[in-house]
Amino acid sequence: MIETITELDALRARVNGWKREGLRVGFVPTMGNLHAGHYSLVMLARQYADRVVSSVFVNPTQFGPNEDFTRYPRTPEADTTGLEGAGCDVLWLPTVESMYPFGVELAARINVPGVSGVLEGAHRPGHFDGVCTVVTRLFNQVQPDVAAFGKKDFQQLAVIRQMVTDLAFPIEILGGSIVRESDGLAMSSRNQYLSADERPLAAEIRKTLLAMRDAAASGRPRQEVEAEASRRLAVAGFAVDYAVIRRPDLSEPADGEKSGKVALIAAKLGKTRLIDNLEF
Ligand code: PAF
Repeated sequence: MIETITELDALRARVNGWKREGLRVGFVPTMGNLHAGHYSLVMLARQYADRVVSSVFVNPTQFGPNEDFTRYPRTPEADTTGLEGAGCDVLWLPTVESMYPFGVELAARINVPGVSGVLEGAHRPGHFDGVCTVVTRLFNQVQPDVAAFGKKDFQQLAVIRQMVTDLAFPIEILGGSIVRESDGLAMSSRNQYLSADERPLAAEIRKTLLAMRDAAASGRPRQEVEAEASRRLAVAGFAVDYAVIRRPDLSEPADGEKSGKVALIAAKLGKTRLIDNLEF
């Protein structure tokens, strides 16, 4: 049976008890409205830990003023059942007051320079500060040995890895593979904002990523591939924030560079902003 914990003292007592028994603790932070992608992270964490804690907290500090914080879908019953099915031992449900005891305005904030400033960081100013601010608190609350984050948020994973190294958190970070719908759309809580007309079009993002990979592999110059991807998405009805090819650290690769790369897209379909990526 999954145990739901809402008080920090109770969480600490449970985790300390496990640690006294010599058990390794895994952690999967989430904002709820869970889907197969989240559950795959719980199962991944389980492979590296004896017990798994997952948190559900819709974090106000990572949403911009015009973003979807208030309408972000909240589905606590389904989340609890799903987490239990995936093998999660404890569901940690902090309140806003316990997460930010001095209030959001006075919260100590974490900024990871460089990797936080580009792509998502440029289009959503302050977003990664909010993510790092809450993940730091969650790490201090849960004190896991290992934590899993999805690769759909490729840049978030890079930011978290840099933060963990820089701040010397004794936590192993795992990246979980992207889980997709049958037409290739990456699973995301935001997919449910798509209208019935928009939903089939959303698969174009994955097709564009595959086309970017193939064009880059055939030797076409990077900037040409990126421009063609943006055009293709615009023709399909997207408002494109970026369609780019980067190194895994998100710096710009030189033409002809052979090392591993990643194609990343962020684009809006109607009111829904979607992101996806493909490593190659
Ligand atoms: O990826 C998410 O769902 C969130 O950014 C996270 C890591 C749970 C922090 O709020």
